[in-house]
Amino acid sequence: MQLIKIAFIIILLISSISAQCFHHPNNIYASLEIVECNWNSGLDVTDTSSHQEASEEMFQVQFNCEIGDKVTCDKVLGQFKKAANMITSTFIFNTPIKVNVSYYDFCTVYPANLCGDLSGAAYPSQFYALQDDDGLTRLYPQSLVKQFKFSNAPKYNEFDINAEFNSVSNFWFEQDSIKINPDQEDIYWTICHELIHGLGFYNRWMGYQINPIALIPTTALINPDGSVPRNNLFNTNSSFVEFMMDKYTILLSNGTQISLFTRQLNTFFNDHKSSVFNDVFIKSPQFKFAQELLVLATTPNSLGLLPRNSRNFLSDAFILETSMPTFEQGTSLIHVDFKTYINTNDFLMTYRSVDGNNAKQMVLNGGNYSGGPIGPRLKLMMETFGYATAENPNPYKPLPFKPSPTPDVTSKSNETINHNASSGCTLYIIKKN
Ligand SMILES: *[C@@H]1O[C@H](CO)[C@@H](O)[C@H](O)[C@H]1NC(C)=O
Ligand SMILES: *[C@@H]1O[C@H](CO)[C@@H](O)[C@H](O)[C@H]1NC(C)=O
Ligand SMILES: *[C@@H]1O[C@H](CO)[C@@H](O)[C@H](O)[C@H]1NC(C)=O
Ligand SMILES: *[C@@H]1O[C@H](CO)[C@@H](O)[C@H](O)[C@H]1NC(C)=O
Ligand SMILES: *[C@@H]1O[C@H](CO)[C@@H](O)[C@H](O)[C@H]1NC(C)=O
Ligand SMILES: *[C@@H]1O[C@H](CO)[C@@H](O)[C@H](O)[C@H]1NC(C)=O
Ligand SMILES: [Zn+2]
Repeated sequence: MQLIKIAFIIILLISSISAQCFHHPNNIYASLEIVECNWNSGLDVTDTSSHQEASEEMFQVQFNCEIGDKVTCDKVLGQFKKAANMITSTFIFNTPIKVNVSYYDFCTVYPANLCGDLSGAAYPSQFYALQDDDGLTRLYPQSLVKQFKFSNAPKYNEFDINAEFNSVSNFWFEQDSIKINPDQEDIYWTICHELIHGLGFYNRWMGYQINPIALIPTTALINPDGSVPRNNLFNTNSSFVEFMMDKYTILLSNGTQISLFTRQLNTFFNDHKSSVFNDVFIKSPQFKFAQELLVLATTPNSLGLLPRNSRNFLSDAFILETSMPTFEQGTSLIHVDFKTYINTNDFLMTYRSVDGNNAKQMVLNGGNYSGGPIGPRLKLMMETFGYATAENPNPYKPLPFKPSPTPDVTSKSNETINHNASSGCTLYIIKKN
């Protein structure tokens, strides 16, 4: 089972080895699995930081191919180009998206008994706290914040998205022109799926305690300039914070926003100066909201994403994955319902593909949708989040950053491309077709 969720479970193991990630003496959290430590791949990749920005070069991939097999590296890159073309033909970016991709043997980093089951992972490199039109502050991924072109934006990370793919995973490559095996996964599906997470189809609900007795939003430390590096997530001293996607997450029973629960949970901090990771929280009146959230997150068809301008929350909602009997971070809630969508044109964001089916077959199976793997509901949700498309050129925009002394980084610069600055690390500019 080459499931993405395995990636997160492994990170739990890695986390438990790293002392810096253990700021919780009581070991009461179930959520360590996606607390990422600064684990080291053990491979030296020289920085090729020069880049080029131009209007038709809106999706840039730095590809660190850390295996000796150049033929395979080229195939992986070919699939990235295909995915980048697909994404840039669906969404209109005004500022280039930059992705730092590594393709390497996960067994050099992860435990030997599990590394073969991993396929890949991607996530926004940094978030920014922006105020939404409902008064709540939520964490937006850098890739989208850049598109808003705020005049007082903080300094951005070099890359918007970090991604890694496992060279020992049993991937199928279209270029091989051979039939996909029943135990193989189409790397194109994996890349497209992961890049959508990287663009912000992302949330971070956490089980409370190892065998979860409740579910809570992430706690995060917001820097004074509004930035939230990944190391600031799961800060035990902070209050709860939502991600962009949570704004649109509703209860399918009555259409209530899940944010109502977050608001209630955060009233805990009006009464207490303490962290939520102790008995004070469990005994507080707010705790029942966290318990209710766990029930929702483990009851099929109970939560969904509601796109903008929808008239009927039942028929319009994009149902989220809540069918796992126990809450699984990295699988539950961050994907759409497998049963409902795997055989439709919105199969891309289910938590896994069907082994032995390549992306093309899945598109055909879903009715040969003209948009390819980005189905109509997914596209509508990405538009709702704030990504522009030809059909929706002026999407929603949260309020800008408060003025800060940092310079505007949206100004264009053009530098030369630094080809093969080091072995195995070249900056590729992927042009839109
Ligand atoms: C890009 O990814 C590689 C491999 O994961 C990592 O070592 C490197 O620090 C990343 N670069 C940046 C600028 O984040
Ligand atoms: C939380 O606050 C305590 C007391 O102020 C401090 O000692 C600790 O380092 C803080 N922990 C984090 C993760 O910021
Ligand atoms: C919606 O359902 C939830 C869960 O059952 C409940 O807590 C909430 O009060 C309901 N909201 C409304 C407006 O009925
Ligand atoms: C699927 O759609 C494409 C155009 O988007 C078309 O070229 C192709 O023939 C269709 N395939 C099938 C089996 O209908
Ligand atoms: C970028 O290139 C254009 C055309 O080559 C040039 O006019 C412009 O001054 C350059 N901008 C910067 C910031 O170097
Ligand atoms: C990159 O490598 C290729 C072949 O390995 C070589 O022909 C080319 O000159 C190199 N480019 C630069 C900028 O060093
Ligand atoms: Zn996923």
